[in-house]
Amino acid sequence: MLSGLTLKKQGNTSSDITTLIKENAVYGLAAIGLLYTGKKAMYPLREVYKHYLRPRKDLVANYSGNWAVVTGASGGIGEQICMQLAKSGYNIVLVADKKSELLETAKKIKTEYGKETRVLPFNFNDLATEEGVDNLNRLLDTVTEDVSMLVNNVGITHNNHFEKHTPEVMNALVNINIRSQLFMSHYFIPKFQERFNGEQKRSAIVDIASMGAFGSNLYESVYVATKAFNRVLSVSQATEYGDMIDYLTVTPAFTATHLCPDLYMFTVTAESEAETIVNAIGYEKETIGHIKHKVYYHLRDKPITGPLISYINKSRKLQWIKERDQKQMVLAERQFRQDVVYVR
Ligand SMILES: NC(=O)c1ccc[n+]([C@@H]2O[C@H](COP(=O)([O-])OP(=O)(O)OC[C@H]3O[C@@H](n4cnc5c(N)ncnc54)[C@H](OP(=O)(O)O)[C@@H]3O)[C@@H](O)[C@H]2O)c1
Repeated sequence: MLSGLTLKKQGNTSSDITTLIKENAVYGLAAIGLLYTGKKAMYPLREVYKHYLRPRKDLVANYSGNWAVVTGASGGIGEQICMQLAKSGYNIVLVADKKSELLETAKKIKTEYGKETRVLPFNFNDLATEEGVDNLNRLLDTVTEDVSMLVNNVGITHNNHFEKHTPEVMNALVNINIRSQLFMSHYFIPKFQERFNGEQKRSAIVDIASMGAFGSNLYESVYVATKAFNRVLSVSQATEYGDMIDYLTVTPAFTATHLCPDLYMFTVTAESEAETIVNAIGYEKETIGHIKHKVYYHLRDKPITGPLISYINKSRKLQWIKERDQKQMVLAERQFRQDVVYVR
């Protein structure tokens, strides 16, 4: 090996150099291969460290402020993000549609963590009009506290063949999933710029997209397209405002909430998903979220595991849609609302 690596000092002809390159190429390739394999081997270890060992940042100190605004705060992942942020010392402005449910979450935050809350009931489906946007802005103007974090979480889905999506459902998906992120961020980004320009305070924006943003979800084409929008807006803004705002773009998979029936492989609880998300704030720019979802992400395209997972999930979903369609007229609105119409 050493002789192969020895360069003759003088009198190299071009054929000598070509021979030398040929002889050493194999070592170069071996080194690249080793580095690549080493990096691949480190990946699971890094993920285990991030998930189980890495301490959460002191978020209140990091962003010099203890108020966060969370949309879709009354249930599922959003409610659990509120609990995790409250645990980290944040007071929370809770935004969702139903006031009674928001008050329930506010009560839990007070009881468990003694943190303050503000409750802002708003139906994001109203964002189709300029009047709706003005109403949202007026509501947000009532928040006089120094907000240092925005979590764009609100979202709905609709499981059905595309031709069975009604215009009403498609409009709701666009208003609630896309327009909410657009107008909430449009309101808070200038405020976060002011915080930075005035007192050099950084802020944070967490955008909840979905793993569906990377590809396709069966019978949820409109939903995943809105989630691709959420992701692309988020990563683009991270580039634009990264000098003053820490972005975290989240692309989770199955999480047991009202939006996602607990029947898929790799489903996690909303609490553990939220914990992983809040743990990543300030460290990462983009994350899939829970470690179980990272495993799923890597298995879903592989030759044997991919088709197997896809077969199991597809048959479960088809069965579920069938049962839902048989029962939907009599089921409680809350339980199956995302699949009935969910437009108010
Ligand atoms: N669950 C999953 O498997 C999964 C996977 C990937 C990504 N995600 C994403 O995670 C986010 C949260 O989903 P989730 O599963 O936690 O959903 P969820 O349990 O259905 O909770 C949705 C929240 O949004 C609020 N909301 C719904 N429609 C609203 C409207 N028109 N106006 C105002 N608030 C409204 C609900 O409040 P009200 O009670 O007031 O309606 C509730 O607080 C979504 O963006 C979703 O796309 C979820």
